[in-house]
Amino acid sequence: MPVPAILFPADPLNPRRPDPHFAWEARLLRESGGEHHLVDHDALLAGQAEEAVRRVPRDSGPLWYRGWMLPSARYRGFGAALTARGGNLLTSPPGYAAAHELPGWYGVFEGATPASAWIPSAGPVAPGPAELAAAAARLGGSGPAIVKDYVKSRKHEWHEACYVPDLADLPAVGRVVARFVELQGEFLAGGVVLRRYEEFERAGGGPESADRGTGDRGSGRTGDAASARSTGDAAGGGPGAGGRAVEARVWWLDGRPVLVGPHPDAPHQSVEPDLTEVRALVRTLGCRFVTTDLASRADGSGWRVVEVGDGQVSDLPRGIDPSGLLTALIAA
Ligand SMILES: Nc1ncnc2c1ncn2[C@@H]1O[C@H](COP(=O)(O)OP(=O)(O)OP(=O)(O)O)[C@@H](O)[C@H]1O
Ligand SMILES: [Mg+2]
Repeated sequence: MPVPAILFPADPLNPRRPDPHFAWEARLLRESGGEHHLVDHDALLAGQAEEAVRRVPRDSGPLWYRGWMLPSARYRGFGAALTARGGNLLTSPPGYAAAHELPGWYGVFEGATPASAWIPSAGPVAPGPAELAAAAARLGGSGPAIVKDYVKSRKHEWHEACYVPDLADLPAVGRVVARFVELQGEFLAGGVVLRRYEEFERAGGGPESADRGTGDRGSGRTGDAASARSTGDAAGGGPGAGGRAVEARVWWLDGRPVLVGPHPDAPHQSVEPDLTEVRALVRTLGCRFVTTDLASRADGSGWRVVEVGDGQVSDLPRGIDPSGLLTALIAA
């Protein structure tokens, strides 16, 4: 069996080198005896997949990707361009979409994750009042909620574009959703999601440093690599806010947790999630390489899945050693 190589985005300023954000992973991979190739992320986003993969050798066989988020349609083009060169992304395009977008994984995780309702959208247009009322009704019609799209929230604009104090106040729901859609603009992924707000255990000391997630450049949702999120209006500002929710990010490969660490937003947090329930759900989802972000309920009644992600585009917390993860990927 050929050993998988890993594709990283190239540095836009120096296409023969990995993007600085991934240079460290590429170096660790090399030190573990693995091989990487480079792809042009901007060309991928522009829909020029053949151009994007031109530095990937022909007949390269099994491939993982570690890079910026891609919209599911762009990942599909990426997969097809690699297939045409004799490469094979080990996460198929349908598998990517299933882990990357909330409607793809929600059915499997329902009950273990906050109740959610979504409204598909064809572009950056806010849903109308009737659609919002119907979605709010599907969540019980009252109580606090959060707003996001199929992939990301605007948690750093918490009161303005993320947190809804009461679903029964439909004009207020409409305002938060409209602002969310306006800020996401052309990068709105899939549609608008409403999720019932749940109280999670918090780190007492106020918002932690907010590192930019892997997705933000690639998804283009914040436009460019320089548009780091501000920490001023950070997530966790709901009822009884006192710092952000403590989240663990668990990296799963073929149903096994190969790396357990903090969420990249709070890289120094120590976390010990109970994986009993989520392990079975990850296996049911059936995607080979995924992450789950887990938070502990404030009342101590157990761990909840805040979100699922494709492992290829999930950000690593600073300071964690991913050597074991990389070794597992090239042994998979
Ligand atoms: N249903 C919920 N109840 C309470 N808090 C929530 C809920 N959903 C999200 N949050 C809070 O908002 C934050 C952002 O939500 P979420 O993780 O879904 O969005 P995101 O933008 O994809 O974040 P990232 O990709 O950086 O993890 C979470 O880390 C959590 O603190
Ligand atoms: Mg998250």
